[in-house]
Amino acid sequence: MHQPFFWGGSIAAHQSEGAWNLDGKGPAIMDYVRQGTRDVPRQIDKEIVTNVRYPSHKGIDFYHRYREDIAMFAEMGFTALRISVDWSRIYPHGDDEVVNQPGLEYYHAIIDTLLEYHIEPIITLYHFELPVNLVHSYGSWLNRKVVDLYVRFCQIVMRAFNNKVRYWITFNEMNHLDPMTTQTDIFTYMITGLKYSELSNPIQDLATIGYHMTLASVRVAKIAREINKENQVGCVFGLSPVYPYDCHPDNVMCAFKESERDYYQVDAMCTGRFPEYKLSEYQSHGINVPIEPEDADDFRRGKLDFIGLNYYYSRLQQPQRFADQEERVKNPYIEQSRWGWTIDPVGIRYTMNYIHRRYGLPIMITENGLGALDDVIEGGTIDDGYRIEYLAKHIEQVKKAMVEDFVTCIGYLTWAPIDVISATTGEMRKRYGFIYVDQDDSGAGTLRRQRKASFNWFKDVIKNNGENL
Ligand code: BG6
Repeated sequence: MHQPFFWGGSIAAHQSEGAWNLDGKGPAIMDYVRQGTRDVPRQIDKEIVTNVRYPSHKGIDFYHRYREDIAMFAEMGFTALRISVDWSRIYPHGDDEVVNQPGLEYYHAIIDTLLEYHIEPIITLYHFELPVNLVHSYGSWLNRKVVDLYVRFCQIVMRAFNNKVRYWITFNEMNHLDPMTTQTDIFTYMITGLKYSELSNPIQDLATIGYHMTLASVRVAKIAREINKENQVGCVFGLSPVYPYDCHPDNVMCAFKESERDYYQVDAMCTGRFPEYKLSEYQSHGINVPIEPEDADDFRRGKLDFIGLNYYYSRLQQPQRFADQEERVKNPYIEQSRWGWTIDPVGIRYTMNYIHRRYGLPIMITENGLGALDDVIEGGTIDDGYRIEYLAKHIEQVKKAMVEDFVTCIGYLTWAPIDVISATTGEMRKRYGFIYVDQDDSGAGTLRRQRKASFNWFKDVIKNNGENL
């Protein structure tokens, strides 16, 4: 099969769709999260509070406007769009006996629209979208039954769209849950619906969750290929280089170890077995991993076909002697975005090289982009030259990885081609799109879509297959 290079973008259901309780959709974990800011963490509620704004409830109303949005993606020349299928639209409580048909019909309609425009649908099966009932009634991913329910959900979806979708992504960024590092509430919650600060035994719990999610991924990859041998299965990881603070060997070693924490699940999904080094590490901390004998076959047969790479920034190892400082030590060679994310194009080339050499699998860049404040200037133009600069420099490095370093890369998808709700802060003003959405942080605005300067720039990039940045 000739492998096309995909140009396009990625979005997620809970950040774009809205319609949080329409057509049978059940409540999902992100429907309980208020808006925060860069400095004020998002508040997570146990119950929906009236008169409080939960950004996912409205999103950018992609649910009703997807035709218009997809037409604009097509105008830019997209050949792929990554969307997520929200579990709570298909099974409102996660464990329902019957499927919610309107949920399936909605995704059929989106996928059909994409296919009309010759845009390849790339489907993420879990992008922070867990029916909240599975947290309350089962204890989320701590419970192995949730693995079975997830597999059942994926099977239904993969069968329903079998003759329309070839590219499946099992999970988005499960790697941010390393048991050995302290987590923030929001990241643990986004991935599991549980707050880190409320876990009774954080190290054990995150090890159990990490194992269950990894197992769920390999089981789905195995089943995907049983459903259709043409299916291509990936998992998306948020990866970034961790640079040593300086060349002191202790710092180099620390940076290496910090970076390696992101890889045990990738290792498990690419090598066909849960890594021994992780099991030994767990054992040395008295952690029990809930392995069942039959899991081995799933790991063996559930290897990935490609790796999805979300790349935004590089990190700097923080030496122990600065541990009690509130401000993190900054890399003096690298600028930061307004939200404190480093801007390091070379980091994408470094990471692509690293994972391609380690696993030998094709890489799809599944997210890359700049969250920035955009101003609509008189006459309605949005001059986002900073975004063009960010993307051009990153695409340049992706090209170098492919042409000079011989990394196999099958696509470059930006986050997000249209402004959506920010996942970590819930803000609307942290914008990534080529398309501006008229909505402010209070939820006010017409939701009108408008082309930014980057829209025509990216259209040109695609037309010239990245030759003209
Ligand atoms: C990625 C997530 O980690 O980062 C996306 O997969 C998210 O869901 C993106 O939106 C950017 O983060 P934020 O917080 O700026 O939206």
